[in-house]
Amino acid sequence: MRDHLVFYLNGIRHCVSGPLAACTVTDYLRSGVSQRLPGTKVACAEGDCGACTVLVGKLGAEGNSFEYQTIDACIAFVYQLDRCHVITVEGLQHQETLTAVQTAMVDCHGSQCGFCTPGFVMAMHGLVEQQSCDNNLTDDDLRLGLSGNLCRCTGYAQILDAGHTLNPVDITSVDSKFDTSSMLASLTSLDNGPVHINARHVAETNNSVVTNSTPPEIFLPTTLDDLLSRRAERTSATLVAGATDLGVQHNHGKFSPTDILFTQGVAELDQLEVVDNELVIGATVSWSRIEAFVREQVPEYHQILTRFGSPQVRHAGTLIGNLANASPIADSIPFHYVAGSTIELASVGGRREVPIEQFYLGYKQLDLRPDEVIVSVRTPLPTSNEHLKLYKISKRRDMDISTVTAAFWFELDDQTILSARIATGGVGPTIARLPKAEASLARKPFSLDALQTAGRLARDEITPISDVRGSATYRLQLVENLFAKCFHDLSASLSTVEV
Ligand SMILES: Cc1cc2nc3c(=O)[nH]c(=O)nc-3n(C[C@H](O)[C@H](O)[C@H](O)COP(=O)(O)OP(=O)(O)OC[C@H]3O[C@@H](n4cnc5c(N)ncnc54)[C@H](O)[C@@H]3O)c2cc1C
Ligand code: FES
Ligand code: FES
Repeated sequence: MRDHLVFYLNGIRHCVSGPLAACTVTDYLRSGVSQRLPGTKVACAEGDCGACTVLVGKLGAEGNSFEYQTIDACIAFVYQLDRCHVITVEGLQHQETLTAVQTAMVDCHGSQCGFCTPGFVMAMHGLVEQQSCDNNLTDDDLRLGLSGNLCRCTGYAQILDAGHTLNPVDITSVDSKFDTSSMLASLTSLDNGPVHINARHVAETNNSVVTNSTPPEIFLPTTLDDLLSRRAERTSATLVAGATDLGVQHNHGKFSPTDILFTQGVAELDQLEVVDNELVIGATVSWSRIEAFVREQVPEYHQILTRFGSPQVRHAGTLIGNLANASPIADSIPFHYVAGSTIELASVGGRREVPIEQFYLGYKQLDLRPDEVIVSVRTPLPTSNEHLKLYKISKRRDMDISTVTAAFWFELDDQTILSARIATGGVGPTIARLPKAEASLARKPFSLDALQTAGRLARDEITPISDVRGSATYRLQLVENLFAKCFHDLSASLSTVEV
């Protein structure tokens, strides 16, 4: 078993063991312990501003290329980099010349104080890497692609101008700056087995390593059996998928795990497919992969995911992390409630399935035993007479926390509602179905009147509180109004006559 991480940083091989494996990527990059790379900035340390954006190249399926995506390094941990190539803004430099992206930022006056600039440059490089080479970036590509980056002084017009001037044909891939083939050869020659880093032992025996708290033992299993047996041995260990929730908690001093089970290397958790008309999403599949996959399968779900965090967050975060984090304002859960998803759980004792609504027992309380892990989620796809509408209401369109979420699912026979399923978030301790509103709609014509009546009933089925995102009164009105909005939005696509 390997007792250290191996990854490349700007083309240089790094072997990491001990407590450094548990620190955030920005601490690793910026601290003198490893290699001072202060071009990667830290402003919010919460994944909100993108100043810390770096490119992470993961080995492609065949092991003969890196697939580069941006992440927020401030909320990622070093153990997430095993077998990757990380590129920071310093790594873009080639013989003292600026890259085409950097030149465009200079020419278009895209930088003033410069604190956000490395993040924007890395995010634009990430966009170019994912763009097929003969297409210019569209305005939508740029606006969505840069939605995870904040600039407080330049203003976005000049930055967007810089993006518009880029011609991907003229931009050399980041790969070409490095000896990619020897990095690939070196990483693929590592044995495929698990990694175990006993950071605690090293910290205890090596006084020269300074840490703030007791570092955890870190396990990177590569098979489900191995993950489950380690889970059974260490029920207090924390499962980590994309770390977009846990990384923020770490930076707030609220995450001090005894042991870590990092799931990303477990091949069996990588499932993303449609089986018997059910969408199956494994526990390590990132939001960006899901977003691309459901574009055709469930366009409404795809649409709501374009507003989930930022590209950096979606490249790392997972559906399963969102479900297990169990926030009442988690954007994904209302859809999975009305779609009737099933959670698949596993432990050394065997497997079991739980309908998603029974998985949530109360505020942040799950029907998940200490020795279990979530393996995947199965979701029936809508049939031709089933219609879905999803809402995320937040103060800003992009990169904002929901005030209220809602999902509507109607089974229609011509213009008659055969059945309705409705779920709301942000209006109680868990996501809630609205049985009285649903019952009032059954066998009714799909009409504004029926939806408005149901909306009024819904007010009695939710228990919102007042907080910084809105008062209880506002949330009650919002939920009622969403019923009418849903009628107008869906009737447009159904050509229903308003009554
Ligand atoms: C800047 C920012 C923006 C965000 N925007 C949104 C947003 O728009 N909407 C939204 O809903 N959320 C948002 N989030 C929250 C977060 O990104 C999501 O909840 C994400 O889906 C979490 O996934 P993860 O893989 O990163 O989870 P992690 O942080 O790795 O883990 C989250 C929880 O899941 C548990 N877990 C992980 N894997 C398993 C498993 N296999 N079995 C059991 N438990 C497991 C972990 O132990 C932990 O308790 C945002 C976060 C940030 C930092
Ligand atoms: S420092 Fe703001 S996202 Fe990382
Ligand atoms: S240039 Fe100052 S924050 Fe963007």
